[in-house]
Amino acid sequence: MKIAVYPGSFDPVTKGHLDIIQRASALVDKLVVGVLNNNAKTPLFSAEERVNMIKDVTGDLKNVQVEAFSGLSVDFVRKCNAGFIVRGLRAVTDFEYELQMAQTNRSMDRGVDTIFFTTELNYAYISSTIVKEVAWYGGDISGFVPRKVAEHVYRKIHDRKRQD
Ligand code: PNS
Repeated sequence: MKIAVYPGSFDPVTKGHLDIIQRASALVDKLVVGVLNNNAKTPLFSAEERVNMIKDVTGDLKNVQVEAFSGLSVDFVRKCNAGFIVRGLRAVTDFEYELQMAQTNRSMDRGVDTIFFTTELNYAYISSTIVKEVAWYGGDISGFVPRKVAEHVYRKIHDRKRQD
């Protein structure tokens, strides 16, 4: 059974991520989307919220599982009995960091290979950071994230602004 892990922050999941999830899930028997819950990062959404949002928009993909993890990606990959890490490459600017991560992960576990998907051109400029920034200033994010996710982002940002 071919199992792959797609690790990331997904804060929030974008249409670009979703495109990778769809294409990667067609290639393997099981795809585990791993939502990083490391304390060093201060995300907009909790890991549980991020997991639930991804579950919500991938419900039609029967071989996709979504789980939070903390610590190293390779340890999570091992826990999932997976042999592959999936990542998306948007532009050449992603390459250096992705290459470094893939090589680091492989040096930690020779049983783990990283598969890169080139992002669909329509989504090449989208990032979770850009989504949050546009939403923060009241811009339209409907082209960047699924509708249900956009609602969560606007609500969360609205709550955040009220707290500040
Ligand atoms: O969506 P992101 O933030 O680009 O994903 C980055 C992620 C989660 C894949 C990366 O930060 C990661 O694997 N973090 C877990 C810690 C780890 O394994 N570090 C070593 C890899 S260099």
